[in-house]
Amino acid sequence: MAFPPGFLDELRDRVSLAGLISRNVKLTRRGREYAGLCPFHHEKTPSFYVVEDKSFFHCFGCGAHGDAVGYLMRAQHLDFLEAVERLANEAGIAIPETTPEERQRAQRQKTLLEALEAAAAFYEERLWSPAGGRARDYLVGRGLDDDTIRRFRLGWAPDERQALRRGLGSGVPEGLLVEAGLLHRPENGEPFDFLRGRVVFPIGDRAGRIIAFGGRTLGDGQPKYLNSPEHPLFEKGRVLYGWSAARAAKGDTPDPIVTEGYMDVIALHRAGFQTAVAPLGTALTEHQLRELWRLGPEPVLCFDGDAAGQRAALRALHRALPLLQPGLSLHFAALPPGEDPDSLIRAGGAPALERVLAAARPLADMLWESEVGGARRDTPERLAKIQARLLEHTGTIADRTVRFEFETLFKARCNPWEMRRRGKRTAAGTAVREGPPPPPRASGRVQREILFRILIDYPELIDEVAESFAALEIPEQGLDKLRRELLGVTALRPGLDAPALRQHLVQNGFAAAVDALFSPSVDTGFLARRSDPNSARGEWTHVVGMLTREEPSVVAISGNDPIGEMAPAPDGAQAAMAAGSGR
Ligand code: UTP
Ligand code: MN
Repeated sequence: MAFPPGFLDELRDRVSLAGLISRNVKLTRRGREYAGLCPFHHEKTPSFYVVEDKSFFHCFGCGAHGDAVGYLMRAQHLDFLEAVERLANEAGIAIPETTPEERQRAQRQKTLLEALEAAAAFYEERLWSPAGGRARDYLVGRGLDDDTIRRFRLGWAPDERQALRRGLGSGVPEGLLVEAGLLHRPENGEPFDFLRGRVVFPIGDRAGRIIAFGGRTLGDGQPKYLNSPEHPLFEKGRVLYGWSAARAAKGDTPDPIVTEGYMDVIALHRAGFQTAVAPLGTALTEHQLRELWRLGPEPVLCFDGDAAGQRAALRALHRALPLLQPGLSLHFAALPPGEDPDSLIRAGGAPALERVLAAARPLADMLWESEVGGARRDTPERLAKIQARLLEHTGTIADRTVRFEFETLFKARCNPWEMRRRGKRTAAGTAVREGPPPPPRASGRVQREILFRILIDYPELIDEVAESFAALEIPEQGLDKLRRELLGVTALRPGLDAPALRQHLVQNGFAAAVDALFSPSVDTGFLARRSDPNSARGEWTHVVGMLTREEPSVVAISGNDPIGEMAPAPDGAQAAMAAGSGR
């Protein structure tokens, strides 16, 4: 192109393409080539090849193809010049002077940015002018103060077809405004303002330079939000609203918080959560996930508490799986049904969101929950089916170490007894990990915790066992408090199901208690047996029996044998069998 002949060839020669790519993609040698999972689309079997001696990569799955420069452009979303610069730096060679064409192109980008900035200033000015009164009222009505409005540079696009063009005057060429998506040029006729009669949310790039706008109606007009069309500097799937502010923030919440909407981001900032960002109304892309991880290792997804929000969270989960790296993951916060972060903060302030964030669950739990949920795990065949499904998903994890950890965890969760019986060996025969620690001696705490887990999983039992539950001696203050809550809430809200109960507990300050109860290190062999209300009821009877009867069975389960709970004393065993047969 614009470089002197031979320059790009030299660059390609100096840089190892496989070396470059293997920083992000695990490559396996296949003869003279390398293969790996394509970083540019989601796949489970490698169709991405690197041909080192010819200096190109090719994906048979999605058709991505190119050299080192092309790779960097795609992988790091650099433009051509930036990619060349990066490579030249690595190779230690100087970049020849750029050509007039390139200077012209750079100039064009600069003017595009200037046009966008001028538009932002115009919208802002309109908002604070008398004409913006209604829009200001609207924003104040939504809980924003002047400071916040200014910080996010919110604006008002007047409800006229030529307001922006007239406002900017002849200083900005019409063609540029059209290219920037600020004016819409119909097939035939005069170009007119793209955003009209809307509150304007400027959208920044990484450096905080304005590259697009979202516009919201003041009323119920449709569409509620209108986003700038894409243009050379704005690709929706590559941008996160609030990214540069989140990057600049050095608050107490180091991990980014991902919400669905502009207003959520702003509400979070206002409440002190300065690392909030949002995609622009579309599903999170791989690119956006990588951008999130640049902000912090464990972003928390805080999507709306409705079915769509949950679906979006799961979609993000599956998109993230192939990209997981040691230490890099996602967490998932569950908002109460019908709430978004903005409404939650308005109703309950920062503490309400704090609680929801504190109860966010790791990706592995979320995946487990979505695949296993209430499924029965009481026969080898059912277990095998669940395990196969889980492994299909973990198989998409590109990083070996992470994949191994997921597989180990899920296998153990599928069948903790089996794991421990087999001892501490993997299929390959290497020692890996000990089973969960043995229950503490004769304290009964483990048994009590099991009882709580049963009731939280099967709230329908609470009413039935309320009397014996209330009579139980519970020395642990936290558990005792939780008991009161469980008895109280089920009395007030009969028919409460497990998810609703959890939600209630999380919102009422029991998030940590519930987490501790269900953390893998606490979960013991009983997990596998409890798969329906009947077996849960049987288990309840059995465990309460252990706690209330005198010594013998208690001693049996809390002896030195770490799998003691699997082999209760004879009377306990009978209760367990009765439970197993579903009577
Ligand atoms: P929501 O519908 O959840 O809106 O859309 P919200 O953020 O809660 O909006 P408010 O609180 O009513 O103002 C979430 C995001 O989806 C995109 C926008 O980016 C919005 O912030 N969206 C939504 C659109 O692009 N177009 C729409 O018509 C609606
Ligand atoms: Mn909202």
